[in-house]
Amino acid sequence: MEWDPGPGGTLKTLFEQAPLSDYQSMPERFRLEWGPIFYRGRTDGTARVIIVGQDPAADENVARRALVGDAGQRLQGYLRKLGLTRSYIIVNAFLYSIFGQFNTPMRAFMDRSTVTAWRNQLFDALVNPGTQAILAFGNAARHAVETWPGSSGLRSQGRVFELLHPTARPTSDVLTDWSSKLNAISAKVTADPDGQRDLSAYVGPTFKPTDQERIPHRDLGFGMPAWMGDGDMARRIKPSGSLPLLAKTGSSVAVTPTATLG
Ligand code: URA
Repeated sequence: MEWDPGPGGTLKTLFEQAPLSDYQSMPERFRLEWGPIFYRGRTDGTARVIIVGQDPAADENVARRALVGDAGQRLQGYLRKLGLTRSYIIVNAFLYSIFGQFNTPMRAFMDRSTVTAWRNQLFDALVNPGTQAILAFGNAARHAVETWPGSSGLRSQGRVFELLHPTARPTSDVLTDWSSKLNAISAKVTADPDGQRDLSAYVGPTFKPTDQERIPHRDLGFGMPAWMGDGDMARRIKPSGSLPLLAKTGSSVAVTPTATLG
């Protein structure tokens, strides 16, 4: 099985230099106890698509990777439609989970010089000659990309795409928005060899289970249990259901109706 080996080189150094003290100065705004969550996907320079989300939540806190919960599985379904199985790197506008929504104070935090400078350095490091597109999901991501001087080259080539966040409401707007951009994105982005491109529009007003895709184990750290990256906290444990334990063996453990992961 393939697992994420973790970042090395420049990216590892950059992550280690993240402006954590800026976040730590605002405990009323950030879930500091969860710690920073840096990325998901390829850190070895093979990512052709850079994806930007907003901020991590509970699932990401467990997995220590960005966009692995419900929002992440919606995104993964979208990547599947584009034929992308591996050649992406995902980061968030915020390293820490935020309390509440992206609002004016949060935008001001993003605009702090130390925070902006580090974020721009990170984006600069994620770009390589093979970069084909950047996909920004939601307003915080859009702001992060807009304030990154390095985006201008990609933008002038029509390679910057701004999309609604996977959990924006109403969901029907997300599906319409995402459907309308499939052709334009696919015109810029090469599918992975094992990708099955499907540029058909989403059908219906909500994400169906088949519109979502599990997070590949290659995006998760070694030894992550099989349930991670599949389903959400409400769906994973059904009363008297069972929870798959190990990705490798497929063994499972019975759970009581009262068990929760929260
Ligand atoms: N989880 C993330 O990591 N980012 C988002 O934007 C939403 C959920």
